[in-house]
Amino acid sequence: MLNLILFGPPGSGKGTQAKFLVEKYNLLHISTGDLFRYEMGNDTPLGLKAKEYISKGELVPDEVTIGMLKNKVNANPDVEGYIFDGFPRTIPQAEALDAFLQEKDESINQLIALDVDDNEIVQRILQRGKTSGRADDNDESIIRNRIEVYNAETSIVYGHYDTKGLANKISGIGTIEEIFERLCLVIDDIC
Ligand code: AP5
Ligand code: MG
Repeated sequence: MLNLILFGPPGSGKGTQAKFLVEKYNLLHISTGDLFRYEMGNDTPLGLKAKEYISKGELVPDEVTIGMLKNKVNANPDVEGYIFDGFPRTIPQAEALDAFLQEKDESINQLIALDVDDNEIVQRILQRGKTSGRADDNDESIIRNRIEVYNAETSIVYGHYDTKGLANKISGIGTIEEIFERLCLVIDDIC
């Protein structure tokens, strides 16, 4: 299996690039943000709980997120690998993911981080907010809070995989095609 973590701040292009990567490498894209939005759209108990946090740009509690992620993986065992997008976002999530994959004799092959500066992120997300309908995309203070939460709680996950020699950073600035090529170079190197 090829198990990748697509990492980076909000709006760095994880979802955009994952769509292309799943086609080229035949992987399953798992975005915890997309899973939460699906639950919120259906007003499920999980969705209502997640909304309390997402609307403020805060992280949904680990136990809720980890449980949802495991269910999604377990429901899709017959794949050639996973692209985790927006997960793990905390050290407990990273540790839970490592242990969960290990139970399946699997592991993370590579974390790839997209490096994009804060101003570009805010512009991209505000632009998307005009049409996305996402409650966390329209208000600049909520977007800035998402970036702060990323810096405070999520960015250290890079080090968790870097110490194992499994992390890589590329520039997330440029055209979508240019960034895709950069990602493919990293992935082809480990395949
Ligand atoms: P999530 O849905 O994961 O949002 P995010 O990480 O904030 O990132 P985005 O989805 O906004 O951006 P992206 O990196 O996917 O970029 P995209 O490709 O869309 O999470 C939302 C919330 O859910 C969290 O805040 C949290 O509350 C909760 N949550 C989710 N996972 C969780 C977890 N594990 N634990 C706890 N809570 C969790 O691109 C952005 C925009 O830029 C698009 O409009 C795109 O068209 C454009 N764009 C893309 N590439 C380029 C480019 N090269 N040049 C110009 N524009 C570009
Ligand atoms: Mg996304």
